[in-house]
Parts: sequence; C-alpha cells; structure tokens
Amino acid sequence: MEKITKEILFSRDAIQKRVRELASQISIDYAGRELVVIGILKGAFIFMADLVREISIPCKVDFARLASYGTGSESSGKVVMTKDIETSIKSRDILIVEDIVDSGLTLQYLVAWLKERDPHSLKICVFLDKRKRRKVSFEADYVGFTIDDGFVVGYGLDFNEQYRFFPDVYVIRQ
Ligand code: IMP
Ligand code: MG
Repeated sequence: MEKITKEILFSRDAIQKRVRELASQISIDYAGRELVVIGILKGAFIFMADLVREISIPCKVDFARLASYGTGSESSGKVVMTKDIETSIKSRDILIVEDIVDSGLTLQYLVAWLKERDPHSLKICVFLDKRKRRKVSFEADYVGFTIDDGFVVGYGLDFNEQYRFFPDVYVIRQ
C-alpha cells in the first residue's frame, strides 16, 4: 500500500441522506414507469446498489464497463468499452449511474453509444460532479454532491484499485 494522507469529505450518514433524496426525486420523476438502470463498473457498484434499493418504482439493472486506461489520478483521455450491456434498451427509459464525472469523456462516450440503440429516454445520475474539470460540455441530470478539484476515494471510488471499500468518502494526498 502506498503512503497517503486522507481527509474525510462525506460521511456515510451524509451519503445515505443524499442517496435517499436522489432516489425519491427519481421515483417522482419516473412515477408509473419502469427504469433500466445502467451502472458503470467498477466505480458505481456501491452507489448503484444503495440507490436502487431506495427507488420505489420497478427497475431492471445492467452494467457496462468503461476504462480510460490511466494510472493514479490522471486518465489517458481515451475511453474504451470493455463490457457492453446485455439488456435491450430500445424504447426503454434509461438511467445511467456513475461514480464521478470529471472531464466528461467517459459519460460522453457511453451516452453516444447507448443513444444509437434508440432508448425512449436517457438520463444520468452521478454520485459526484467535479464541474470545473470538464474537457467536454456535459451535464448530469441528478448529482449527489458537487466537489472541487482533488482526488477522492471510497464508496466505490478507487486510487489504483485501492480504497473502494471505504464506507465514507475521503480526499487523498500523496
Ligand atoms: P472522466 O471520463 O474524466 O469524466 O472520468 C471519469 C472516471 O474517472 C470516473 O468514472 C472515475 O473512474 C475516474 N475518476 C475521476 N476522478 C476521480 C476521483 O477523484 N477518484 C476516483 N476516480 C476518479
Ligand atoms: Mg469510473
């Protein structure tokens, strides 16, 4: 394990409260409909698990895996899909769930990929939004928390595959 210092940013209680708020908003917005929730692996797995358990409308789940093959805290900027979804999304209501939007490149790529399949609607829910770091213009429809620059871990988010299991979210410094 590399030596890092970490400072708590969002406690598990604050996260749980915010996830409940997001889920109730989503349940209102999609009342009477059925959602296909698509999580982006690996980072979104914990957020998505919490979110779908708080949503009160029926939903199906699926996963895509996208990588931007960088190491540490900088992505390469080149996005590749390493696992596609397995559900037919034509004419369905789609909610993409992602851990964090930074440059916006990963979500821009996935949105373009999924729109090709002609869903009825497509919205995006991100746990964290690093608004100031966009390289492409991109707005999520549901945002857990907006954060400044800085690298965060925990609640699914990793640094070199470490720390995903932390129940709280931390900012780290090497
Ligand atoms: P984007 O394509 O630049 O928007 O990057 C999104 C991806 O980069 C996310 O799905 C994360 O996997 C990763 N990422 C960006 N910022 C952080 C961070 O602060 N902590 C952990 N992962 C991050
Ligand atoms: Mg990710």
